[in-house]
Amino acid sequence: MSNRLKVTPNDLSAFWMPFTANRQFKQAPRMLAAAKDMHYTTTDGRQILDGTAGLWCVNAGHCRPKITEAIQSQAAELDYAPAFQMGHPIVFELANRLVDIAPKGMEHVFFTNSGSESVETALKMAIAYHRVKGEGARTRLIGRERGYHGVNFGGISVGGIVSNRKMFGTLLGGVDHLPHTHLPAKNAYTRGEPEYGVELANELERIVTLHDASTIAAVIVEPVAGSTGVLIPPKGYLKKLREICTKHGILLIFDEVITGFGRLGTPFAADYFDVTPDIITTAKGVSNGVIPMGAVFVTKDIHDAFMTGPEHMIEFFHGYTYSGNPIACAAALGTLDTYRDEGLLTRGAELASYWEDALHSLKGEPHVIDIRNIGLIGAIELEPIAGNPTKRAFSAFVKAFERGALIRTTGDIIALSPPLIITKGQIDELIDHVREVLRMVD
Ligand SMILES: Cc1ncc(COP(=O)(O)O)c(C=O)c1O
Repeated sequence: MSNRLKVTPNDLSAFWMPFTANRQFKQAPRMLAAAKDMHYTTTDGRQILDGTAGLWCVNAGHCRPKITEAIQSQAAELDYAPAFQMGHPIVFELANRLVDIAPKGMEHVFFTNSGSESVETALKMAIAYHRVKGEGARTRLIGRERGYHGVNFGGISVGGIVSNRKMFGTLLGGVDHLPHTHLPAKNAYTRGEPEYGVELANELERIVTLHDASTIAAVIVEPVAGSTGVLIPPKGYLKKLREICTKHGILLIFDEVITGFGRLGTPFAADYFDVTPDIITTAKGVSNGVIPMGAVFVTKDIHDAFMTGPEHMIEFFHGYTYSGNPIACAAALGTLDTYRDEGLLTRGAELASYWEDALHSLKGEPHVIDIRNIGLIGAIELEPIAGNPTKRAFSAFVKAFERGALIRTTGDIIALSPPLIITKGQIDELIDHVREVLRMVD
């Protein structure tokens, strides 16, 4: 085993950790030193069952050989190629491979380096698309309460998570929000898609009436809202949004940064719900989280609308130094090979009912007020401690890590999304860890 496992940095202050309770962490650090398949190894040599695929991204499991080898050989062959006005073969190969598995109608791919960048790219594309089509007044963007679309200004503007927005000023102008779809009084303990709430999609008609369709560029939603604590769309809701967008010439963007690449048991959520958006944003699972990468899928109609004017002119003034970075492309190709060879983009469907039963066996455990599931995603919502929201779930997270399981919490919700290689035995083990910590926490 590597020496790194024995080394614990003795000064933790220089690194300002992202989305972390820095002071709490630095008093009692949770350090990961290695990983393989379904497990992390801590710096003190403990095995931790990964119940969250890292951060919803390691869909193929950890340190998979095809991905590791692809990165190693690419780094030795072509390390970097300029992303602007130059190309290299494997970025084209990757784009074709991605289009091959994408929902029908998605024919072009724009590369980014993260989910946040995919979102900014999609929002800019939507506004620019209407402009090149002669509808330059369509600039408004519609998001949804409780939505998470990354942390850049566009993403937090259309997003709807209060703590991600309130510190950062006035955000983008010209943004409105649909209501969220969380109706616990009616839908608690639903297995899969909830019965109630399809009518919430009609709120889009109200927003269109308020602003006029001619001012609206796009609606962006997560098909299943992940980071806010797993909110599954009510039956028929996404189809209804699609209908209203089509009727008013508004682009529909699915943010599939979490749901893309097999999380629901289908390659994309668009396949699961049989709803085709105009743009799909992805990241995370595209490269198994191993090298940062994002990919934005668009229809031929959107792509072709930009392909006008003098041929020596840049058609879309947008891109990143690392768009389609060769090593990230190699990681993504190794990832797609692994998904294909092991059937991982549909494995979630085989495990979904076992997963559902295991999760719902937690009903009746202390503090539990709702359980939700779809594909290989699950959420256990806890009653908050009065006057101390988030504390109970955070204690459960820390205790689970001490016991040997990585879970994730947001507010007072435990969210689970294991690698798609998980076995039934490991599902039982994960749920048992959760059961035990629910019995332990105050
Ligand atoms: C739906 C969604 N969009 C965007 C993002 C942002 O991705 P990143 O952290 O790679 O910028 C996330 C991250 O969790 C996400 O879940």
